[in-house]
Order: sequence, then C-alpha cells, then structure tokens
Amino acid sequence: MEDSQFGRALADLRDIAARQSAAQSEAGRLIVVSNRVAPIEEGQPTAGGLAAGVLDALNDKGGLWIGWSGEIASDASRILPERQKGKIRLQTLDLSQADYDEYYRGFANAALWPVLHYRSALARFTRADYAGYQRVNALFADAVAQSLAPDDVVWAHDYHLLGLADALRERGAANRLGIFLHTPFPAAAVFMTIPVHAQLARSLCQYDLIGFQTETDRRSFEDYILREADGHLLPGRALVAYGRVVRTGVYPIGVQTDDIRRQAEAPANCPQMARLRTSIGASKLIISVDRLDYSKGLSERFRAYERFLEQNADQHGAVTFLQIAPPSRSDVETYREIRLELEREAGRINGRFAELDWTPLRYLNKGFARQVLMPMYALADVGLVTPMRDGMNLVAKEFVAAQDPLDPGVLVLSQFAGAACELKAALLVNPHDPDEIAQALEQALVMPRDERRDRHAEMMAVLRRNSLSAWRDRFLGDLARRA
Ligand code: F6P
Repeated sequence: MEDSQFGRALADLRDIAARQSAAQSEAGRLIVVSNRVAPIEEGQPTAGGLAAGVLDALNDKGGLWIGWSGEIASDASRILPERQKGKIRLQTLDLSQADYDEYYRGFANAALWPVLHYRSALARFTRADYAGYQRVNALFADAVAQSLAPDDVVWAHDYHLLGLADALRERGAANRLGIFLHTPFPAAAVFMTIPVHAQLARSLCQYDLIGFQTETDRRSFEDYILREADGHLLPGRALVAYGRVVRTGVYPIGVQTDDIRRQAEAPANCPQMARLRTSIGASKLIISVDRLDYSKGLSERFRAYERFLEQNADQHGAVTFLQIAPPSRSDVETYREIRLELEREAGRINGRFAELDWTPLRYLNKGFARQVLMPMYALADVGLVTPMRDGMNLVAKEFVAAQDPLDPGVLVLSQFAGAACELKAALLVNPHDPDEIAQALEQALVMPRDERRDRHAEMMAVLRRNSLSAWRDRFLGDLARRA
C-alpha cells in the first residue's frame, strides 16, 4: 500500500474508533448474560465452573444477571420476572422445546462445543440448529433490551452467546458490549470447519471487547480475523474488521483462594468426609472431578490409571482413585456414548484388579456441593486433571487452593488445560500419553514433602495474583476504557 493510501486508511480507522467511543459514554450498571446461571441458594452443586465463577464475581459487585432458567416451557419461550438475591438481580428465561433442541442441544453443544475443543469429527451441524441459535440469542437480546439504559455495560459469557451483540446492535444498542469465552478458541483451520464460521466471526466483532483464557486462544482468533476476514491490526493490538474496531485480551479466570481453603477446613461436612476417610483407610487418594464430557479425557485417564496399576503391583491396595463425574448434556448423542464407554471401562478395570477388600477405581455419576468437594480435595494426595482440551479448568485451581500449605497434595495437570499456562509447578502431562500419566502418578505419590510445599507455594502465588476479582476487574476495566 502507498503511503498516502495507508494514511487515508489509518484516518478511516481512527474515525471508526472515534465514532464507536463517542456513542459509548462512561460505564454505568453491569448486566451479565450467560446461558447457565448458578443456583443462588447455598449448598447446591453448580454445573461447571462458569456459573460458580460469575456468581462469586457478582456477589460483591452486584448487577443484573440474565440467563436460562434451566426449564423448558410448554409453548413459547418467555422472559420471567426478576428476583433479587443479595446484590444480584436475577432474570431468567424459559426456553421452548424447539429452542432448547436447536440452540442448546443442537448448535451450541453438538456443533460449537466439539469444534471449540478441537474435536471437529464429533460436530453435528444443521442450518435449522443455527437458526434456532440465532433466535435464542435474539431472545436474550430482548431480555437485555428491556432493562438496558444508555450507560449500562453488558458482559456476555461463553459460546452460547456469540450472536448476542449483533442482536443488541440491531435493536439500536450503542452500549459497551463485551464477551468472555470460557472455552478454548481453536486454530483458524479448525474453526473454519463450522459451516457458518464467517457469520459467527462477524457477529463476534459486534462486541467491543472479546476476552480469552489464554494467549493461544486470543492469537487463534486474531489469526482468523487477519487472514480470513480481511482484518487489520491497530497499534495496541485492537482489530479492525467488518467496519468495526474490536479489542481482544487475555483474562485467565481465577478462584477465591481464601474462601476455598476455609471451606476445605470447615467441619460442617463431617458425615460425608468421615465416610470417605473410613472407607479409604490408610490408602492414598487420587481424586478427579469433571462434568461427564469427552473433552475431559476420562477414558484416556482410566486407561492411564490401568497402566499405573499394571506397572506398580506394590501399590495394589495402597491407592484409591476417586472419579466424580456428574452427567452432563445427557440428551446429546456423543455424551450418551461417552457415558456408556466409561461405565464399561470402570467395570473392566475393577474386574481386573479389585480384591475382596479393595476397589481400585470408584466412579461416581453425581455432583457434590462445593462445601463437600473442597474438603475432599484437601484430603487427596493427588489431583488428577487431564482434559484433552479445556478453556481453563477451575478444578485444577480449586484443588491447589484447597490444600494444606504445610502438607499439600500434588497436582497432575494436562498441558492442554488453560490452567497449565499459569500452574507451571504442577506435574504437566500430555493426556494422549498413558505412560506419561502413569509415571506422573508414581512421582506424585512418592514426592517428598519439601518439594510438594515448594510447588504448592509457587502455584498459590500465581492463584493469588490472578484471582477471581482480578479477572473481573481487569475485564470490566478494559471494557470501560475507551478504544
Ligand atoms: O465452563 C464451560 C461450560 O460450558 C459453561 O458454559 C457451562 O455453563 C458449563 O460448562 C456447564 O455446561 P452446561 O451448562 O451445558 O451444563
């Protein structure tokens, strides 16, 4: 490009940025939108880390939280009246059966989810599902628009809402709109296996700020925009695409370390903990907690544990592996298949190694409230977190935060979890390599206390720095800042 052309292009871009900024005044109230909202009653298990993270982040700041009620309405989808809990105003929507089938079960979880986790071969795309996804994004936009004042800031979460900003702009919203993607964003070539990738990217660019868990995810998106969407980079890394300026950033979601440690030490859970303690006796405990999802690498983990048992006969009877895996999205075909496979595998491994007084693998298909899980983490000698791909994986962070700093357990962590970018003092493994996982288990179970303390202290320093409130404040601070 010649100098004069370049100068004109730059002036055009500055003009776009200035118009966007002028339309957006200083930040007002916060409106958070996510598909899943946490049960705001104490002590209920939450599905996945997103709802728990958003709940904690909103609890002290307050704001309006809009999301799906979890219910299917018999006729049309509808927006329910607001409820207040502490500083949070909660507004939920019921979905119709068609909306649920096409938006949640269909496009979000049968098409987008596998591709975002690098599993394109599992993706099932239909145009009808995508139309349903757009329809429900428009429904969420209607709910937001009902309460939206000119100064309000909207913070959307995750892959269910890639089209929300577009729908809000169509309704005339000039507000600051941001989205945080809790999942990975895959390499451009993988993203492009979604037939409507271009429409999705265009919709995403209607946001002012797109947050990612890791630099790898951010770069994959940037790469797609620069190479496939004819985008440009401005100084400061903002992107210009589809006639808009959109900023991107890396905001690793964190946990509330002090609260977790307090819960881990609390005596309130004695009955369940006492049962667990008595039943494992003197044997060491390896713990894993995951939604029952193929991205979590459960089958591969079971096989790695089997390999460990094959190679360490002296550990038979001396170690117990507790896998907690609450069923998830069980009406999506691939999730039914993974459940059947795991039941078969757990039965086979126990059949092969169990003794009259020892069950090597305990596989529980139910969820536990955080008040019960945190003490379980603290009791465990090893946290085994080996997803094939994961946006962050808050279980890894919670496991570390729950430990007794004087005698901590060891974290074995997949290099493909977002958390691996921060928790470098964990034993990092490739989840595709059962021998490597088996060796890491051996190493973890005999690791001297000094080394465990050093690794734990290093990870805690990172967790304190990248706390949940730092995640929220950095994202919202950047969203409020002018482009
Ligand atoms: O954390 C990723 C995530 O997909 C969230 O968006 C979601 O709420 C959670 O896992 C649980 O999944 P679901 O809402 O489909 O039960």
